Amino acid sequence: MSETHGKNYNLRDEIKAYWSARAAHFDLSPGHEIFSEDERQAWRALIEKHLGAGNGRPALDLASGTAVVSHLMDDAGFRVTGLDWSETMLALARTKAKKRGRDITFRTADAENTMEPDGAYDVIVTRHLVWTLVDPAACFAEWMRVLKPGGKLLIVDGDFVNVGFAEKLVKRLAAFAERIGLIRPEISHAPAELAGKHAEILSQVHFSQGARAGDVAAMLQQAGFESVTIDTELQKIHRAQAKHLSFFKATARGLQHRYAICAQKPL
Ligand SMILES: C[S@@+](CC[C@H](N)C(=O)[O-])C[C@H]1O[C@@H](n2cnc3c(N)ncnc32)[C@H](O)[C@@H]1O
Repeated sequence: MSETHGKNYNLRDEIKAYWSARAAHFDLSPGHEIFSEDERQAWRALIEKHLGAGNGRPALDLASGTAVVSHLMDDAGFRVTGLDWSETMLALARTKAKKRGRDITFRTADAENTMEPDGAYDVIVTRHLVWTLVDPAACFAEWMRVLKPGGKLLIVDGDFVNVGFAEKLVKRLAAFAERIGLIRPEISHAPAELAGKHAEILSQVHFSQGARAGDVAAMLQQAGFESVTIDTELQKIHRAQAKHLSFFKATARGLQHRYAICAQKPL
């Protein structure tokens, strides 16, 4: 906890403030917002592979941020509700939905305590939330509660802590190429002053040692989910994103442990 805050300001408040501070720049990054029809199609294929056609079924996008995934789900025919605890993110999400003329509902809530009714959703989808959860076990129990029997959960996430040998090498090569003026410095869309805050938060969350797909899947099984499947076939998405990234960044990204996990609430 930062010394400038009183006792009632906890890790959850820090995470909320961190994402609120990143909201204005969030959609500038490839990997967050979608910049090509190829990428949109690749996401759409992943959604359909695991969740089937929307057909107007209710879907909850947890930690919806600026609503990139909410729009993919809406495009796929789901009736989407997006939840996030950052009002700043939600304001951008509402503006985007208005601009695209989409009827997506957004509500402020904690993914650990959604305040949604029991058995309300056929589908829950959540991208890039699990790695930053304070209490994933409590969240998975909550998500089980709001799913209908037979309902499906689709998590898209990654381990952004453990950097493998190949990724380290690529990053070192990039730094060297930058130093000798071979390439221009990578544009970062996260304000520089937030880098320290990111590290401080990461060191305190449940998956501070990295959210490995196997560990997340095991926790889902403990929470009672069935048919837990890990999918690392995300190459089409990464290839489409690579067109908007530098060679080094795209290569490093392709080497990271990124995955989708699909799991089902028992009937
Ligand atoms: C990396 S962003 C991902 C946004 C979006 N899911 C996407 O993939 O574009 C993380 C988001 O999670 C939200 N968040 C983090 N922890 C949360 C929690 N416990 N409950 C609700 N929102 C949360 C943040 O406010 C932020 O908008």
